[in-house]
Amino acid sequence: MEDAPVAGYEGKRIAVVGAGVVGVTTAVRAQRRLAGAEVTLLSEQLTPHTTGDGSAGLWEPYLLADTPPALVQRWAVETYRHLVSLWRRPEAPELGVSLVPLVCVSQQPPGPPPPWAPHVLGFTALDHHQLGALSAEHGRRYTSGFSMVTLTAEPTRWLPSLLEEFRSRGGKLVHPYSVRDLRLLEGEYDAVVNCAGLGAAKLVKDDDDPVFPIRGQVARVYAPWIKHVFLEEFSGGNYVIPNIDSVVLGGTSQHRDWECDVRPEDSEHVLGGCARLLPALRGAPLLVQWAGLRPARRRVRLEAQRLPGSALKVVHNYGHGGAGITLSWGCAGHAVDLLQQELTACKL
Ligand code: BEZ
Repeated sequence: MEDAPVAGYEGKRIAVVGAGVVGVTTAVRAQRRLAGAEVTLLSEQLTPHTTGDGSAGLWEPYLLADTPPALVQRWAVETYRHLVSLWRRPEAPELGVSLVPLVCVSQQPPGPPPPWAPHVLGFTALDHHQLGALSAEHGRRYTSGFSMVTLTAEPTRWLPSLLEEFRSRGGKLVHPYSVRDLRLLEGEYDAVVNCAGLGAAKLVKDDDDPVFPIRGQVARVYAPWIKHVFLEEFSGGNYVIPNIDSVVLGGTSQHRDWECDVRPEDSEHVLGGCARLLPALRGAPLLVQWAGLRPARRRVRLEAQRLPGSALKVVHNYGHGGAGITLSWGCAGHAVDLLQQELTACKL
């Protein structure tokens, strides 16, 4: 659903901290909905140097720990629908949005489908025979899995187009800018949305569930004959995700590991493991390798917080693990709902 502009926010000064996919979608949805508000993005990093830019931009709820399934469903389904609507547009290639088939396997016992399953295209559980055949082919024991049609929204394309909209709506971008303490924004802004990702570790000192890194290393190869996603969703698993100009091979998920350099042992796991899944990848030209830090938390933090003794309204929107793209649009909408409530409460 499109954001309908709401009156009553003229001249309100809103800062969004962080220009990753979560920050930029939040800033744009705030501009679309809060008519006349002045939105400023404050960020240390900008595309193509954000964490999301290294990722394949796949829609798949991934590494979300204990985030309540009902919230994951709300945010992820809204994002899925938005990405489908982008994919239908003539500018889909510039937005970097593709529709792709996906097969995901795991080593968990079969269980009920996730709550978002009825809302995506073609969700089907894999049966015993399919799991057996894939296990034999890949030399692994898969015990459950599903297929569906999903989307990739490549951040290196989607983020510049969102930033273009942000600027054309009069948004101000301050970069590079490092926020040391949210309280220092009081006076200059009426409200702030904290989308600092891993930066929230330093910014929010009273968080009883602090954000931490889950390191991911990937490789990009040239393999335009690969058109589907294959995901082993378990520790030590691999994945293959096609993008428009390359195929992303993964991956690692090393908790509390801050190393951003590529490691040879991880390269071996990524390249060797993906060739095991798809021998057609052997000999595909290697384009680049990259390691980044996912901003993880026990659960996504999306809530308003009153800072004692401060008039500044604060909304937190961070800790999206491996699901920044997947939850981005839905979380941005929810964060703007909270902003509206906070700014209205202040008027009353
Ligand atoms: C990742 O963060 O590596 C990832 C995210 C979504 C799907 C697959 C992998």
